[in-house]
This record gives sequence, C-alpha cells and structure tokens, in this order.
Amino acid sequence: MSKHEVKFNIRTQKCNHANASQVGARVVLNGWVRRRRDHGGVIFVDLGDYTGCTQVVFQPDKGKVFELAQSLRSEYVISVSGVIRMRPEGARNTAIMTGEIELEATELTILSMSEPVPFPIQDDIDASEDVRLRYRFLDIRRPQMQKILRIRHRVCRAAREYLDDLGFCEIETPILTKTTPEGARDFLVPCRFSHGQFYALPQSPQLFKQILMCAGMDRYYQIVRCFRDEDFRANRQPEFTQIDLELSFVDEEIIMGLIEGLVVAIWDAASGVSLEVPFMRLSYDDAMDRFGVDAPDMRFGMELVDLSSVFKEADFRVFRDIVEAGGVVKGICLEAGAELSRKELDELANFVATYGVKGLSWIKCESGKFTSPIAKFLDEGMFQRVGDLFEVRDGDAILIAAGSFRQVSAALGALRVHLAKTRGLIEDESQLSFTWVTEFPLFEYEEETKRYLAVHHPFTSPLLVSENDRENFRSAPHKLKARAYDLVLNGQEIGGGSIRIHDRDVQSRVFELLGITPSEAEAKFGFLLNAFTFGAPPHGGIALGLDRLIMLISGATSIRDVIAFPKTASGVDLMVDAPSPANEAQLEELGLKLADRVREQK
Ligand code: AMO
Repeated sequence: MSKHEVKFNIRTQKCNHANASQVGARVVLNGWVRRRRDHGGVIFVDLGDYTGCTQVVFQPDKGKVFELAQSLRSEYVISVSGVIRMRPEGARNTAIMTGEIELEATELTILSMSEPVPFPIQDDIDASEDVRLRYRFLDIRRPQMQKILRIRHRVCRAAREYLDDLGFCEIETPILTKTTPEGARDFLVPCRFSHGQFYALPQSPQLFKQILMCAGMDRYYQIVRCFRDEDFRANRQPEFTQIDLELSFVDEEIIMGLIEGLVVAIWDAASGVSLEVPFMRLSYDDAMDRFGVDAPDMRFGMELVDLSSVFKEADFRVFRDIVEAGGVVKGICLEAGAELSRKELDELANFVATYGVKGLSWIKCESGKFTSPIAKFLDEGMFQRVGDLFEVRDGDAILIAAGSFRQVSAALGALRVHLAKTRGLIEDESQLSFTWVTEFPLFEYEEETKRYLAVHHPFTSPLLVSENDRENFRSAPHKLKARAYDLVLNGQEIGGGSIRIHDRDVQSRVFELLGITPSEAEAKFGFLLNAFTFGAPPHGGIALGLDRLIMLISGATSIRDVIAFPKTASGVDLMVDAPSPANEAQLEELGLKLADRVREQK
C-alpha cells in the first residue's frame, strides 16, 4: 500500500442490508455519501452503494468523528463503523429497505473526496444526455443504470447456461478480419505491416460460424460484438452485441424451438416473467399486407386493408390511375378518428408524405353518415363497401393512401405505429408480443442499380421444395422465398437467421444472381467456398440483438441506456473522446496521408 492510501475498515455488509434484526450489532459500511443533512447539531448521511442506502447519524458528542463528518460532501467515499439502532418513531421510512433503522457512527474514514457532481446520483435528473455520457462513471452510479447493467449480466449468464446445457460450445472469432456480408458499410483498420491493406471489423461472425460447422463443431455460440458503419436510428449502434449461434443437421423448426426456449430462459432470469411459447408466426407477405412492415407491432390492430377493388371502379381518377398502373389503394381505420381536425389530418398527410405518398384521403363516419373530401367520387354502395371492409363504427375515420405497394406499405405501416403511440392505442404497454416472421423473399430488386440484393445475406438458402421453385431458381429469382426467419418483439426485430446454403453450386448460382462474379466470390469468400468442397453439413443459425433485447426487457427508451459505454448519434464516445486524430508519426507508420481537404478543415 502506498503511503498516500488510507488503511480502512472493510465493510461487514452492503449499504442496503441493515435491518431491525441487527439492532445493537456493530457493523462497518463502505460507500458513497449520497446526501448530507445537518439537523440541529446532528449530521445525517445517506450512505449508498449499488444495493441502496443506510442512514448514518453523526452525533456532536463524538468529537473528532463529528468534526470530520462536517466536511463530508456528496459522493465522498467513506468507511463508517458504528452500531445499528432503531430510528425514532415518526422518523421511520417504510418506502426503503433500511427505513426502520440507522447507523450511529463511532468511526469515520474518508477514502476519497469528490468534486461537486454535475448531476445528483439518483434516477430523476434533468441533465442532458451529453453530460450523462461525458460523466458516464457518475451516470452508471445511478440506480436505474445499475439495474439495467445487472439485468444485462443476468441475461448473458442465462443465455450461456441454457446453450451450454444444450451442448453449444462458445468460440471466439476474429475482430480483425475481412469484409463480411451483412450489407452495411465496414469499419476499416489500416495495416502497419502491409501498407494499403486493411482489416475490416466484422459486421457479424457469419462466415466464421459457417466455417465452424464445416469444421465439425456442431453447435457454436458466442456473445459477440459486431460493427456496422450505418446510418443512425434509435435502436442502432455502430458497435452492438449479438447472441450468435449456428447448428449443424437442423431445420427451421429446431432452431425456432430452441430460440423460444432461450428467450423464455432470458425473460425468466431478467424479470421472473414466464413467457408463453410457441410464439406467433406470420409470413412475410402477410406481415407486409396487413401491417405494411416486416417487423409488425401486434399489440394493437388497425390493420391495413386493400381498397383497390373499390377505387378501381370509382370516378376518382387519381386513385383509379394508380390502381390501373399496378399500384394499390389501402387504408387503416382509426377508432374515434372522426374527431380529428383539419389541421391534424394535414399533419398526418405530411407524415405520410415523407414516405413518398402524395396525400392522405379520409372517410369519417359520423352520426351514421360518411363524410369525405372525395365524397363526390364515391356512391353510397362504395362507401358501404369500404365501411364493411373495416367494420367501421360511428366516430371512426378511415385514412387512405395510394401509390406503389412499397410506398403505401411503408407510409401506412409507419402511420399505424405513429397513431398508436400518439393516441395511446396500445392498451397494455407491458404486453410482450413475440412473432416469428418467415418466408421472406430471397432477393429484392433494386431499381436504381437494376440488380438483385439479398434480403438476408448471400448465404441464406433458397426455399427449393418443388420443381416450380427449382425452375424459378433458374429463370425467375424474384419469386423465390428464403429459408429465413426473423424474431420480432413489439415491432422491433430482435433476431434474424436462416438455414444456409451448404452446396457450392447453389452458392455459386446465388452469387451469380447477385452479380458477384466468380473471381469476386473467390476473393471475398473463397475460404468458405473451399470449405464447402470438403464435406459441409447442412446447417443454420440465428443472431439475437442483445442490446435491443435488454431495451425491451428493461423498458429503456434508448439503446444507449443499455450499453455501458455507447456512442452518440454521431458515433462519438464523449467520455474517452473518440474518434480522435492520429498524429503524423502514426499515419506515416501506417502508410497513410490525410487528403488536403481534410488537412485544411483541421
Ligand atoms: P442481422 O443482421 O439480422 O443478422 O442481425 C441480428 C440482430 O442484431 C440486431 N442488430 C443491431 N442491434 C443494434 N445495432 C445495430 N446496428 C444492429 N444491427 C443488427 C438486430 C438483428 O435482428 N449474421 C446474421 C445472423 C444469422 O443469419 O445468423 C446477422 O447478423 O436485433
């Protein structure tokens, strides 16, 4: 021990563990001064650690100890010895575990002092998120953050136990690696030994886990960090964690059943809630038709209904032309929506406009009558058909959008969620609505580049059951379905996976369809293709997004609140101040030079 360090009495218990059964006992507490109050010559200190607080009393008759207590400030770290006693009647606080007792201090050691803190160590604070992130060591002292990080720990432990019991082996895969196929931008790391060459940080361990199957490991898992340089969203981080697994000799049913068991174990460990399995299932086509998105929130209805057949016959040219050109007219029925004002309806129209839909029409049902700005184009029978399709009730409003299937789905899908949030349509916010979404398309066609993209990733097996499927694989790839599945919870994708291709020829054809030439495939994924030629078992897997899971378990509203050291929306770690400039010598060693325009900006 250095001469500056203080010898101190080591705690006999944590700060939340004192109770009435200990009255008369001598105990030692170590912790932080959460609050200090002077009451007519007596000093009260709430002494806290991660478990909670005990009230410590310093009496003026304790001489030096009392004098020292007068110098205590918030977040000083101290060791206090003393005797537990009952609080006087009337001063007891039944709201906290230690509220009946207090510690009468006889010894006090200050272990370290604290500058005035930028925000108090408690749950309700009005500090900005930037301040919280800069002072993350203080932020994490707050009970809510402590709680979340401990839930996260329990979830990881439960996952490990569950998977260990099922014969999974935890294997680490490289962080310094090569580009991986999840479709986001890579983070690159320049190589000192070989100038002009770069490692990529893994977007996921996808290729390595498939290699491990080829290597006969049979069941792999890893709680692993993934890196994706993509646009910011509320539930995304550039580095995030997956519970990642892969299994040999399996099909979709085995994997989904196993994941349901894992999710049950996780919820039980995190919150003692027992979930019902099996989870609901929904095909991708159904999800898009009924909810407009592939990760639907099923805690409320307001499903999208296709009105194209009605508007094909109506005199309303705008809608009819859209339907005749292959587009759709769809609507949602907002309960009690007839009360929406013109201004509110205009705001909703602006909302859908951001999804490329021009305008939002509406039909209100009030006092048994339909009213609408497009009333003159619809006859009574048409109104009735629309009303029947939605089982509309007095006071409801039907909100209608027209355009391509993709635009209308995106617009009404988002509007449905927006209305549910702003109008409180989710009856039970704590409800957990798990849904498997299956039968995804294998490819999507990108108009701008006129090429196919993999909806999951290029290693996902096409669903090739019938001769028809095989024919499509040869000549109509856009009709193919994938053996992929996503797990959705309350409208958020919390996991995704697939049965993989394990046949070199099928893999080559998929690459070909994706416009990846044989030499490109060889350069990027040659090692996997090579492994496929030495006896590859049928295999499949999935990855759960751990951060999103913890968000939903803990009720956190931001993904940053469930990560100890997250990045801001602009990718900055405010505490360590990263990213930060590299000096000339470092750049030189790596064979790099900043572009002139970057130098000028500096
Ligand atoms: P996928 O890309 O679907 O699949 O990722 C799996 C899950 O990871 C979570 N996730 C994220 N969480 C936070 N921030 C992000 N930027 C982010 N991106 C994804 C989501 C998602 O469902 N290799 C495949 C898995 C497989 O096929 O086995 C993969 O990574 O919850």
